[in-house]
Amino acid sequence: MELGLIGYPVQGSLSPWIHHQFLDQLNMTGSYELYEIAPDQFEEQISDFKRKNLNGFNVTIPYKQRIIPYLDALSDSARAIGAVNTVVCHNGKWTGYNTDGFGLTAALEERFDDLFYKDKHALILGAGGASRGIYYSLLQAGFNTVDISNRTYEKAVELTGLNNSDTITSPMTFDEAEQKINHYDLIVQTTSVGMTPNEKAQVIDLEKIKKGAVVSDIVYKPFWTQLLKQAYQKRARVHHGHEMLLYQAKLAFEHFTGQSVDAKGILGDFEKMIKSKNEG
Ligand code: ATR
Repeated sequence: MELGLIGYPVQGSLSPWIHHQFLDQLNMTGSYELYEIAPDQFEEQISDFKRKNLNGFNVTIPYKQRIIPYLDALSDSARAIGAVNTVVCHNGKWTGYNTDGFGLTAALEERFDDLFYKDKHALILGAGGASRGIYYSLLQAGFNTVDISNRTYEKAVELTGLNNSDTITSPMTFDEAEQKINHYDLIVQTTSVGMTPNEKAQVIDLEKIKKGAVVSDIVYKPFWTQLLKQAYQKRARVHHGHEMLLYQAKLAFEHFTGQSVDAKGILGDFEKMIKSKNEG
């Protein structure tokens, strides 16, 4: 199984580690290589890349949208989200998927399955690329409410246009989200706020959060973001960013191979590896 990742930059990516674990689980031979493509060379390099005849590859920043015109087919969800992080190659044909948001919901479901019973309310912080996939997957998961709060209010309004389900969804400012915070069972932080080296930054205050609510931060460096620290102090349940990374890779690998792999069993080793890298 020949796999890889395209993006810019890709050095330091944790994906090779994860995919090699999955290859080992299935006793498959193969590799997962990093292909760094400079933005001004994307068009010419992608044709060379096609000739490598990989079985599949992942796509990261800044190419999740730019890859779309090169695909032969697109899953319905990737089309709705407007971004692709996984491409399966079969007989020279490329099919695009997006496993980012579904990776998050799969990870959440494994750990906090009570969140997926009836009458649950979610809030997403941020309305950028990462937020789109997460919004789509929370709508699919059947939450009653999925609100979106963003610094630039207009972008939150625009994102709610993706909703064609029964889910109630309102755009709001960060101030409004803070006021309503005790209403939510799940809060997903999708902005880069709090990421190293700005570790003291926190996107909103959780002072009034409901005890037992789940706070999921997609930032995984540092492992304990300021937001997660406050959530923990307030007796909310915390969900660290590396889990989404692991589960989006699991779903991608399952698209590549058509076989199931176990993410839960390698979560402990992944956590140790992330923590040692974060310190390094
Ligand atoms: P990604 O693909 O990682 O989501 P993006 O599409 O550039 O990246 O989106 C970044 C998100 O982080 C946006 O919601 C952005 O808010 P704006 O739409 O107002 O720009 C949010 N963001 C980035 N820096 C921020 C900051 N300092 N404070 C609040 N929100 C921030």
